[in-house]
Amino acid sequence: MKIIKSIAELKGELNANKGSLGLVPTMGALHIGHQSLFKKAREDNDFLAISLFVNPSQFGPDEDFDKYPRNINKDLDILNSDNVDLVFMPDIQEMYPSGFLTNVVVDKLADVYEGLHRKGHFNGVSTVVTKLFNVFKPDRAYFGAKDAQQCAIIKRLNIDLNLGVDVIICPTVREDSGLALSSRNGYLNIDQMEAGLLISRGLFKSKELFDSGEKNIVNLCKVARNIIESNSLCQIDYLDIVNCETFDLQTDLDQNSIMIVAVRIRNIRLIDNIEIK
Ligand code: PAF
Repeated sequence: MKIIKSIAELKGELNANKGSLGLVPTMGALHIGHQSLFKKAREDNDFLAISLFVNPSQFGPDEDFDKYPRNINKDLDILNSDNVDLVFMPDIQEMYPSGFLTNVVVDKLADVYEGLHRKGHFNGVSTVVTKLFNVFKPDRAYFGAKDAQQCAIIKRLNIDLNLGVDVIICPTVREDSGLALSSRNGYLNIDQMEAGLLISRGLFKSKELFDSGEKNIVNLCKVARNIIESNSLCQIDYLDIVNCETFDLQTDLDQNSIMIVAVRIRNIRLIDNIEIK
């Protein structure tokens, strides 16, 4: 596996590769969820590239950029064992050289839900993903469905800016308990972990009710909310059923309906979602 730190060197390496290129953008702290993306990308493409960059522009001033889990050696072991061809690990200066002024802003989609609670977060994500798409020019890029709003935004910018990448969304990977895998789960102590389990339990219960005939959005949301709030450690930031492409609140269920939720457990924020269709 090639480890590459500069964009110039990366371009040279990519030019030499003739087959189809799959890209999985990551911020490291790799876990089984990331590995499911690598596996799919490995199957679909001749050449598999990973970016590993903790992108400062997507962290707010009060967020965990400095504390974000970093374990390069463990990450490299995982990438090697998953048969990755190339890892791009730029430093901040390489991605944001002095004089950098341009931001990619996906209007409206970036301002609601996660965007409301994490001001500027999605502009940071959109900007870095656009840069990665421009530098790599991958045939396909892979993202996890857990970050539903990020997925909607990346699909939107890819279309709007004619980037021409096949954006592939892979299913959320969960612990046996149902907890969606996240690099931030490592922050949870045992009590908080127990509280966190209620998030997926609430989502699954709503889905079960929907499958058995309940189509009332208020009732479906109430069921999930009651389960999550049964533990006083869980503070819900939002829980709604929205359209997975526009993030507009839904009044009627359809093929694009997803229930989205964000929960604060002390200072740890967890998000999750489930399709209601
Ligand atoms: O989902 C992530 O890990 C990040 O938001 C991404 C897509 C790698 C951009 O920094």
